[in-house]
Amino acid sequence: MKKTSLTGVKPTGVPHLGNYLGAIRPALRLAEHHHGRYFIADYHAVTTERDPAALRAAIYDVAATWLACGLDPASTLLYRQSDVPEVFELAWVLSCVVATGQLERGHAYKDALGRGEAPNAGIFFYPVLMAADILLFDTHVVPVGQDQKQHLELTRDMAVRLNHHYGEGTVVVPEALITEAPLVPGFDGQKMSKSRGNGFSIFLGEKELRKQVMKFVTGSETLEEPKAAQGTVWDLYQLVAGPEEQEALKAKLAAGNYGWGHAKQDLFVALDRELKPLRERYAALRPDEAGLDRVLASGAERARVIARATMGRVRAAIGIAGR
Ligand code: ADP
Ligand code: TRP
Repeated sequence: MKKTSLTGVKPTGVPHLGNYLGAIRPALRLAEHHHGRYFIADYHAVTTERDPAALRAAIYDVAATWLACGLDPASTLLYRQSDVPEVFELAWVLSCVVATGQLERGHAYKDALGRGEAPNAGIFFYPVLMAADILLFDTHVVPVGQDQKQHLELTRDMAVRLNHHYGEGTVVVPEALITEAPLVPGFDGQKMSKSRGNGFSIFLGEKELRKQVMKFVTGSETLEEPKAAQGTVWDLYQLVAGPEEQEALKAKLAAGNYGWGHAKQDLFVALDRELKPLRERYAALRPDEAGLDRVLASGAERARVIARATMGRVRAAIGIAGR
């Protein structure tokens, strides 16, 4: 039986290279052998986004991104979380099996408290909504970066508890698939993230892309010195270059008279080769919001068929309705 792969991306701006290599690209590769169910986590973004116009635009940004990166909406479901209200119904049921202590240990919530903020209850509840996203679609694997691992553990825990109380098979217990690029570094060598501002959109034009690639931190060896293949530039190169190209770069670094500036140029070439067709498709897709709406409406319809079936099963299992 074909398994199901599901993941969501929050609409909080045009996705960066970390989102692409850490979640979007692996998800699309999985879709070749799985039922792919990929969505725009718009209600998750409401925990932090207060500007309606920015949210509306970011939803289209993410929809166009999935399509530009190669999602085929005929074979892979693409939908907005907000178009599937069953998510909130299941979230309630899950909130009744998860302990508040577990949510108190959530990274995002704890970090916000640590920064002296007064986090809203949406941030506290975030992992429950995410678990509902996943369990509603009978998901087997969830391709995500390292930062989402704790959320997936909580999701599994909720699934196991639900099945324990109400019978095995009430929901599918999913697995995290920490992808081949679990922690894409940004300019400073730390995890690339929107909040840190240490990365760049995958749709930058060629000139701007080159400028951004030159910003990555490197070792401080002189041009002449032989260099070991390690560090941020090398890590990124491995994600976008073929095995022979990697061997060639390693040899050039080891030989000396080849600086990190040269290596960044090679990285830029490999990145541009991968991103150019995506950038071109994005430029064509993004302005056509009516076209994107049509794709999302069709996705919503198909998603709700699955969602209703799962919710029917859960309602029957917990004694709310049905048999
Ligand atoms: P950000 O951390 O920039 O706000 P999101 O939380 O919206 O990004 O992440 C969307 C998806 O991209 C998640 O699956 C997340 O694990 C993945 N992701 C984000 N940043 C990185 C990164 N630097 N390396 C690998 N994966 C990442
Ligand atoms: N929490 C994820 C993030 O911050 C987005 C997300 C919401 C998600 N629901 C999901 C990811 C379900 C995977 C599966 O990036």
